[in-house]
Amino acid sequence: MKKVIFILITSLVFVSCGIEEQKISDEDLALIPLPKHVVEKKGSFKLTRSTKVLFYPDNEELKANAEFLSSLISEGTGFETESKAAKFKSSDKGSIMLILEDNEMNPEEYSLSVSQQSAVIKANTATGIFYGIQTLRQLLPPEIERAGMGMNINWEIPAVEIQDEPRYPYRGMMLDVGRYFFPPEFVKRFIDLMALHKMNYFHWHLTEDQGWRIQINKYPKLTEIGAFRDESVVGHLRDKPLKFDGQRYGGFYTQDEIRDVVAYAKTRHVTVIPEIEMPGHSLGALASYPELGCTGGPYKVATRWGVQKDVYCAGKEETFQFLEDVLTEVMDLFPSEYIHIGGDESPKDRWKKCDHCQARIMGENLKNEDELQSYFIRRIEKFLNSHGRQIIGWDEILEGGLAPEATVMSWRGTEGGIEAAKELHDVIMSPTDYLYIDYYQAPSEDEPLAIGGFLPLQKVYSYEPTPEELNEIEARHILGAQGNLWTEYIKTADYADYMAYPRACAIAEISWSQKEAKNYDDFLKRLNLHLERLDIMGVKFRPLQEDE
Ligand code: ACM
Ligand code: ZN
Repeated sequence: MKKVIFILITSLVFVSCGIEEQKISDEDLALIPLPKHVVEKKGSFKLTRSTKVLFYPDNEELKANAEFLSSLISEGTGFETESKAAKFKSSDKGSIMLILEDNEMNPEEYSLSVSQQSAVIKANTATGIFYGIQTLRQLLPPEIERAGMGMNINWEIPAVEIQDEPRYPYRGMMLDVGRYFFPPEFVKRFIDLMALHKMNYFHWHLTEDQGWRIQINKYPKLTEIGAFRDESVVGHLRDKPLKFDGQRYGGFYTQDEIRDVVAYAKTRHVTVIPEIEMPGHSLGALASYPELGCTGGPYKVATRWGVQKDVYCAGKEETFQFLEDVLTEVMDLFPSEYIHIGGDESPKDRWKKCDHCQARIMGENLKNEDELQSYFIRRIEKFLNSHGRQIIGWDEILEGGLAPEATVMSWRGTEGGIEAAKELHDVIMSPTDYLYIDYYQAPSEDEPLAIGGFLPLQKVYSYEPTPEELNEIEARHILGAQGNLWTEYIKTADYADYMAYPRACAIAEISWSQKEAKNYDDFLKRLNLHLERLDIMGVKFRPLQEDE
């Protein structure tokens, strides 16, 4: 925090000097993720009461972008900045212009040109324009994030020419709401912070052993029963004797709340990927509908963390009917092409002893329970594909044979991702050793309780998503990277912030910025300034330490 305060003081001194023509040094551009090309120029563009946000052509998406920017400026400056559709005229000096044009750029690419006269963002998609706005935002004094700063601040944007586009098309963050429930307001803010860092896929882990969190109209017991557990573990699961709090715990999102979050994410150019776990991590569903398990129950929503032996029965037709019904409602709520179907950590103990599962193995000519899991996932994939959707599964879906169109999320290291890419399947990299942001970020004695592991910021930043083992064609199947925030030990919004930031900033940079530009010291310099912005936004990040 000391550094943050130091920077706050130096920037106030700088602002109060009102230096207009001086070229601002590199360190003063706190851009994260680092853009592809940045040329700094002399001078700056200054927001005033008469600054307008103009956009052209007049369409809904661009209008939404312009309103996003004008309300950011209005709230921070108190200027009541207007946004309107208008073709650029040379008399429009003093304006910010968002111009959607038919050009050669890639779909997420943008250019941003700031001079003393204007700030102009160009792209050929509204998403590109939105990313240009996020860069412009990061060039503004961080106080723009605090309501009503008014004339106390010199609202200068340094003159620059920026051309920028992402290295990978998939830049993701996952939030587990099964272990602890996070309300829609928190989820929206999580998405807002992703958007600030140009991340574009929010993976919403919605069903778990410890709680089913999504309302499904056809199966009301999922949220009447499955969304609540009797108690939760106190301390670490490894502590002996294991302690519980005796408090009933739960919660879920109504379909209206989900629609609202999905619509909100769209305005931030973030796609929400729902995860409905199968065949494992399904005690929330089994407690509600015990007939879907091999033994028929009774089952209870889990109160302790860890892998559970009771999973959906792969032999009974009811299981597939249930999942297809659930997925039908899920598809109605989530326009995302990708639906995540889990697939991880599904023990085969019950299947080995279940007559229904064994009959399925015989009837389908399967070799063993691994092939039964593959049958399960393929069948669900076929259903989702027939509705124009694609599945993502954790890397266990490789076992027993990969479903034909599946995208693999590689978490148990990178081997699963490498194997899938060699089979020319798409891959999202999310290995525990580098991208599990529920791990400790400093030695555990000094930190609040976490699940384990050790993942300091520098290690996250060091991660290279494309494995060396892949040739050029295979490497094209690495879609990007994702940080995962599992919440067994994360009960509060503040602690979620603390675990996610600033490590998510590093994940944003490794998945957006160019490989050749990677430089941890430079990242840290920018991050030091950027954290001031996050601080003003109320993010309870883990402050950088002297030796970071
Ligand atoms: C996982 O961390 N079980 C995907
Ligand atoms: Zn069974």
